[in-house]
Amino acid sequence: MNLVGSEKLQKMTASIFQEIADRKMEAIKNGKDVIDLSVGSPDFAPPSFVVDALVESAKDTSKYGYTLKGIGEFNEAVGYFYKQRYHVDLDPANEVLQLMGSQDGLAHLATAIINPGDYVLVPDPGYPIYEASVNIAGGIIYPMPLLAENKFLPNLHDIPKDVLQKTKMMIISYPGNPVTALADKVFFEKVVEFARTHNILVVHDFAYSELIFDEHPQISFMSIVGAKEVGIEFNSLSKSFNMAGCRIGYVVGNPQAIQLLATFKSNIDYGVFYPIQKAAVKALTSDFAYLREQVKEYELRRDALISGLEKSGWKVKKSPATMFVWAKIPSGWTSRQFAFELIDRAGVAVIPGDAFGALGEGYVRIAMVQPPERLTEAAERIEQFLAEVVEK
Ligand SMILES: Cc1ncc(COP(=O)(O)O)c(C=O)c1O
Repeated sequence: MNLVGSEKLQKMTASIFQEIADRKMEAIKNGKDVIDLSVGSPDFAPPSFVVDALVESAKDTSKYGYTLKGIGEFNEAVGYFYKQRYHVDLDPANEVLQLMGSQDGLAHLATAIINPGDYVLVPDPGYPIYEASVNIAGGIIYPMPLLAENKFLPNLHDIPKDVLQKTKMMIISYPGNPVTALADKVFFEKVVEFARTHNILVVHDFAYSELIFDEHPQISFMSIVGAKEVGIEFNSLSKSFNMAGCRIGYVVGNPQAIQLLATFKSNIDYGVFYPIQKAAVKALTSDFAYLREQVKEYELRRDALISGLEKSGWKVKKSPATMFVWAKIPSGWTSRQFAFELIDRAGVAVIPGDAFGALGEGYVRIAMVQPPERLTEAAERIEQFLAEVVEK
């Protein structure tokens, strides 16, 4: 049989992530010690009280059936968390929907909302599922450039009128992946106004809401006046509580949009394993000391990496948030060349920026998923690598 993937599949971009993984494996096979800073899967353990809740609940054999949708307790816990952390009031029954990770919702939302031919405004660079979800739905992507000179905020005035007339949805993420920038309240207020004027659903991805450094404020899009009328916000326990493999997240905000996604999901999945929901409730209703400690750990990692890179002569901007550094590479390289050579010669794996969109060219994304000592070592290897290539 000769089976070729669909046109939609061919538009997806698994290839570069796979290529980095293959190169990494090849280097390891050749006896190289590779410091893997490519994939954004947290290496920290979830809080022990969350693990205990999961284990305890897993002993109850009556809880192994389909759960269909989130238990009420979970929605209440999200409401509590949003109130405590971001001063946002939510109606747990209508303004919260549980997801199998925020990816589940991000992947399916476009299909639930748009028709083929509708436009969706998507950040470039941006997290790959944004674009993929629009392709799955048959929509048209209108990239919003995120440029350093604009503090990585899109310029909403640059979007042509005829595009806006056909636009149904826009996706933003602050702090985001791979661009780690934060947005201020004024920007979010402009987005609400813009969405109202043009009747556009705003989708804010807030997956890194709990990895914000240096006492910067954690601004939920939902805390902006009028946001619930025009928008929804995705969030997750993957990065906040290191539960990435548990596959549990949620979306909050506009009840109509949430209902549409819920209807879509009711056709394709049967819910999250009950003990995972119980563990998530425990996490969301804890005292948050864990979150404060974790931010400190990531700050240490970031500082170790940035100061190490500085020593190497590679000046990289300090991330204000997230588990990533979005690093402009030295001139004379493409992102891919740089990332490939870095694995082959220095044994450090990062992701080339063009994996996240055309404007990611000239950057690499470095994931801080190793302890500070290992990040310092990575920076030392990079220093040696840069010295060698300059001498060449
Ligand atoms: C920006 C962003 N959004 C969403 C996700 C999906 O996370 P999850 O499905 O684990 O909640 C990720 C994962 O890396 C991410 O980086």
